[in-house]
Amino acid sequence: MSSEPRIIDIPAVHDKRGNLSVVESGKNIPFAIKRVYYLYDVPGGAKRGGHAHKKLQQLIIAASGSFDVILHNGKSREKFTLNRSNYGLYIPKMTWREIENFSSGAVCLVLASEHYDESDYIRSFKEFKNGFS
Ligand code: TYD
Repeated sequence: MSSEPRIIDIPAVHDKRGNLSVVESGKNIPFAIKRVYYLYDVPGGAKRGGHAHKKLQQLIIAASGSFDVILHNGKSREKFTLNRSNYGLYIPKMTWREIENFSSGAVCLVLASEHYDESDYIRSFKEFKNGFS
């Protein structure tokens, strides 16, 4: 079921010095990581995303703080609240996403299956919906 959005539990190593969580390509996520980026210093009330991708798969982690990710698969909408560093949200290709409600100091870490390519973006919701008909 790798084509469904889902929360992935990222193994954590706990000791008295703190926690360490590990993501390994093809082991606990269903793609090879080609790119890593992160959103930070997001002003209160700002919204990110507002697009889908033709090919790109991603894992989104709240490395710090919390935020909401709203996904649309062309038929229905689902909201995920990310607030723990040892959980990631897997987002398959052709999924519309919006990210909002960032807490102060939140860091949104994104592991991506492809290099940056503007031609992979679908930035119109109408065009995204039309892709399913
Ligand atoms: P965008 O993906 O629209 O941001 P978000 O989905 O987080 O709201 O990207 C914002 C800008 O950053 C856009 O001009 C493209 C640029 N960008 C890169 O140059 N490389 C990247 O890897 C990403 C993700 C974005």
